[in-house]
Amino acid sequence: MQSARRRVSREGGGVDGELADLEQEKRAAAVAAADLVEDGMLVGLGTGTTVAYLLPELGRRHLDISCVATSPATEVLARREGIVVGPFEGVARLDIAIDGADQVDPSGWLIKGGGGAHTREKIVAAAADRFVVIVSSNKLVPRLAPPVPLELMAFGLDATLRSLPHVVLRQAPVTPDGGVLADYHGEVDDPGQLAARFSDTVGIVAHGLFPPAMVSRVLAGRAGHVDTLEF
Ligand code: A5P
Repeated sequence: MQSARRRVSREGGGVDGELADLEQEKRAAAVAAADLVEDGMLVGLGTGTTVAYLLPELGRRHLDISCVATSPATEVLARREGIVVGPFEGVARLDIAIDGADQVDPSGWLIKGGGGAHTREKIVAAAADRFVVIVSSNKLVPRLAPPVPLELMAFGLDATLRSLPHVVLRQAPVTPDGGVLADYHGEVDDPGQLAARFSDTVGIVAHGLFPPAMVSRVLAGRAGHVDTLEF
């Protein structure tokens, strides 16, 4: 696992005095990410409050792009901004995917899925040539901490839970793919080891640990600028 975070550049970010600091940071990161999108691209759109700042920015630029959304909520918001959103079926690769994260550690491991969309988010991120993560500065953490979101198969749910200590079902509707949301509240000492354990557990559809190898760059909003982190 890589250990050092490399700060490679700083870019200007928009500041709106009416927004709270963290909201300004989210918006600044989202605006910087929107600048990476060009005409003709196939774009994966993430889910969450940071991505909600990306969508109007993309809409405002009237780009000739085709998008895939990671959730019904994002699909609705994107269409409202005039963005063309189509089905993922028949699309084998994307030029870029842009999404938020719940936590980013210094080596580039992410925890995602606070909004319950991590399965689709992971599939979209994996299909993209570049996966760009947009966060406010409070998402940069010295080490990942629980909870880690999980999506579980409804079939055999009790048997799956029996094999998974420290996992609590989330009070949330099933996902658009019929999965059951849960959260792992145990230790996250070694994200790679934990991710491998989750991947080996029958009944887990997807977990919210995203490896650094999946991440092209993280754009982290700060007061008045955006830090670009590459791993
Ligand atoms: C959705 O399931 C999540 O993975 C979000 O992408 C992540 O939680 C970041 O969301 P916010 O931008 O709302 O913090």
